Amino acid sequence: MHGPTGQSPVPAGQEINCIGLIATFRMNPNIRQLQRYPFERLRALLAGHVPPADRPLIPMSIGEPRHAPPGFVIEALHQHAGDLGSYPPSTGLPELRQAMAAALARRYPGAAKIDPQNQILPVGGTREGLFAFVQAMLDPTTPSLVAMPNPFYQIYEGATILAGATPYYINTPRENAFLPDLDAVPDATWAHCQLLVLCSPGNPTGAVIPIELWQRAFELADRFNFVIAADECYADIYTDESAPPPGALEAARLAGRERLDRLVVFHSLSKRSSIPGLRSGFAAGDRDLIGPFAAYRTYHGVALPLATQYASLAAWNEPTHVAANRRRYQAKFHLAEEILGPHVDLEIPAGAFYLWLAVPGGDDERFARDLYIREGLITLPGRYLSRPTANGDPGAGYLRISLVPDEDPCRDALLRLSRFIRSRVA
Ligand SMILES: Cc1ncc(COP(=O)(O)O)c(C=O)c1O
Repeated sequence: MHGPTGQSPVPAGQEINCIGLIATFRMNPNIRQLQRYPFERLRALLAGHVPPADRPLIPMSIGEPRHAPPGFVIEALHQHAGDLGSYPPSTGLPELRQAMAAALARRYPGAAKIDPQNQILPVGGTREGLFAFVQAMLDPTTPSLVAMPNPFYQIYEGATILAGATPYYINTPRENAFLPDLDAVPDATWAHCQLLVLCSPGNPTGAVIPIELWQRAFELADRFNFVIAADECYADIYTDESAPPPGALEAARLAGRERLDRLVVFHSLSKRSSIPGLRSGFAAGDRDLIGPFAAYRTYHGVALPLATQYASLAAWNEPTHVAANRRRYQAKFHLAEEILGPHVDLEIPAGAFYLWLAVPGGDDERFARDLYIREGLITLPGRYLSRPTANGDPGAGYLRISLVPDEDPCRDALLRLSRFIRSRVA
């Protein structure tokens, strides 16, 4: 890149930051604090290595659902394609908010009813919603912490850094059933916490937060005056059909918190309905948080296009495709148990669609690289999703495998993985 004088605008010795940006202009310094995204690190790990030529490459690193999107959702999009002529309401169509509230009531029969008028807002997927929520909620006039599980969905950290706050990582190690130990966090840390992000079922571990842990989080939120963002985008993907994971809204009701004080939950159609490209989800909860969040979003300007709103309405109103979609993941977990179980220490998670595998030998980067070279599988080293802490790095030594391909390639991938593991321990 050259400036008008024909000279490079980057002075000699100019720093290139961790995400490859050249610090040329006076700009938001927080951008330079962003960590390299996991998939960029994965590209660098695999660069220059060649997978086997005699079989197809199977990508299982990204949590992008690949089951075919439901036909009726595509149909609704087509039907409303002509609506491009008008600006959509940023708070969503009233019937869409109603459909979202009804879907919550079906999913969590024990939860307090959500008022579609004041307690729910559409967002452009939970990624966008969570990012915006962090920007909207934090008080920029005081230094603040955002507490989050470790490992974690990377947007929590990026949103925190870009809001000028500091991430505080709460490890979720296997010894603690992959759950955060909230009581291990010092009071002095909670005192600076403005927001706690929890994810259930979790990415990458699939762990489900039990009612008691949600309730402990509520007590701490009251005591230390912080807000809880509950990322429940995997709420409809769980392995025991007879035991849907409890949600934060149910925990709140059981604790007598009818007003959902300090709590906002985030839900999405991406995983539930296998339509990640629609970019559609919602935030619901405490009206005293949803109101200001709606005001923020008026300026933020990310109203869902009307066709997206109608397609989302159709998807939230239809529960049978959700169960069918979930059963496909359950079948793939059974397959994993059958194929890998005899050869590796495998835990089938309670929810989400990832295998979180403790790699034999313990070197997750090397394992992922060699698995790519030998078997043509693309998986993600666990350490790319976590941060090292004083108590260790809870992602190191794990591999995240997304069971998103269809059944046949998934079976093929699991067989290749099993062969690879056997060749290592032999
Ligand atoms: C834990 C978690 N939260 C949020 C998201 C974002 O999903 P979406 O924006 O498609 O709703 C993902 C996607 O992988 C995720 O794994």
